[in-house]
Amino acid sequence: MSERALNVGVVGCGMMAAGTHIPLIAANAGLKLRWLCDLDVPRAKGLADRHGAAHVTADYRDVLNDPAVDFVVLATTHSLRGEFIQAAARKGKGVYVEKPMGSTPAEIAGILKAVRQSGIPLCVGHNRRSAPAVRAAMDVLDRWRAHPQIVPWRLDRNSHLRPPLAEEEQTLALLRVNDDILTWKPWAFGEGIILGEMTHFLDLANLFVARVPRRVMTMGSATTNATILVQYDDGSLATIVQSGLGTLDYPKELFEITHKGAMIALDHLVEMRVMGIPNVPFRSTFPPREPRDFDAPGIEGFYRAAERTIAERLKTGSNELFIGMPDKGHARHLDLFARCVRGEGPSPCSAEEGAKATILTLKAMESCKLGRPVDVSEGEWLAE
Ligand SMILES: NC(=O)c1ccc[n+]([C@@H]2O[C@H](COP(=O)([O-])OP(=O)(O)OC[C@H]3O[C@@H](n4cnc5c(N)ncnc54)[C@H](O)[C@@H]3O)[C@@H](O)[C@H]2O)c1
Repeated sequence: MSERALNVGVVGCGMMAAGTHIPLIAANAGLKLRWLCDLDVPRAKGLADRHGAAHVTADYRDVLNDPAVDFVVLATTHSLRGEFIQAAARKGKGVYVEKPMGSTPAEIAGILKAVRQSGIPLCVGHNRRSAPAVRAAMDVLDRWRAHPQIVPWRLDRNSHLRPPLAEEEQTLALLRVNDDILTWKPWAFGEGIILGEMTHFLDLANLFVARVPRRVMTMGSATTNATILVQYDDGSLATIVQSGLGTLDYPKELFEITHKGAMIALDHLVEMRVMGIPNVPFRSTFPPREPRDFDAPGIEGFYRAAERTIAERLKTGSNELFIGMPDKGHARHLDLFARCVRGEGPSPCSAEEGAKATILTLKAMESCKLGRPVDVSEGEWLAE
């Protein structure tokens, strides 16, 4: 394919599209914003005027019927997924679909079938996979998995006297998420936060553990506070601790991954700490989404900015909101998908990877409802 700019349509121009996808597409020299589609046409028109999209519609078929469109970003509420992707597949259009990829196993199966039969490029918006901090962690973890060692400084109390343990090959991942329900849309409460939000973290758990999930158990509420435990085929475990009653004043997400005597910690996607692996620095830092918000690198920058906001509130009685947003990988995810549409690389989250995380999410919801562990079968996302 030539290096002309790819023509992009956006279907669903709500908060996510207006705040992230549309500005990213408009700012990307390799992309051209061609269509904005929303049921609320004046909203789409306002965004088109601001960001320079040529066409506006309330009917997504107009976008898919345009032969010039290369791919579409689907960022509607969760109600439109299978029907849209199947229509896009018939027209040969690539799709970047916001999470969740679908809301039922049948919908996901229909999407997988349409993508496999048509061969359209598809990317699920599990954008944290493409966050610089996550990519750095995966780089360290992959190298450690390929060449693990017993480092000379590890305290070894006669390990040669004990039998080898199966657990020595396992990975443990802890993902702690601090969120605030007051920031959530009313529609997110209907289906619960597990589907809308935990898909991101279940996808990350799959990425970090790199094994096949076999069982999931959720305790708590599908809406606010929940702990999800996933067991993988080699016994590896991922635990996701989600609070909907935390505060944005504190870092939202902390991931800790242990494997073969090493710890990789990702603090709010702005800092990675690595211990137990030779020749890897203890601390690496990653710029936040708005670098001007932080005056120091890494998590220290977050705390200093939060401290300033809290001191200001105490001093003046102001109600200033603090959001030290990290780079969650949206720009890079879109860029990698554009390369995939050009035939220059794989999708940063393929239909199968997306389905694996989404099916696991649906099973986590089922477990929450039933109050017991639920088995997961890879037949639901692998090719028959
Ligand atoms: N990846 C992330 O970081 C992230 C963050 C927030 C939201 N999201 C996801 O993005 C999606 C949108 O979330 P949001 O917060 O922008 O929601 P929103 O309610 O603000 O916007 C949804 C928009 O979709 C439009 N819409 C609904 N059905 C439509 C249809 N059939 N055709 C055209 N337009 C239609 C609505 O009019 C609305 O403007 C959701 O899937 C959500 O889970 C992703």
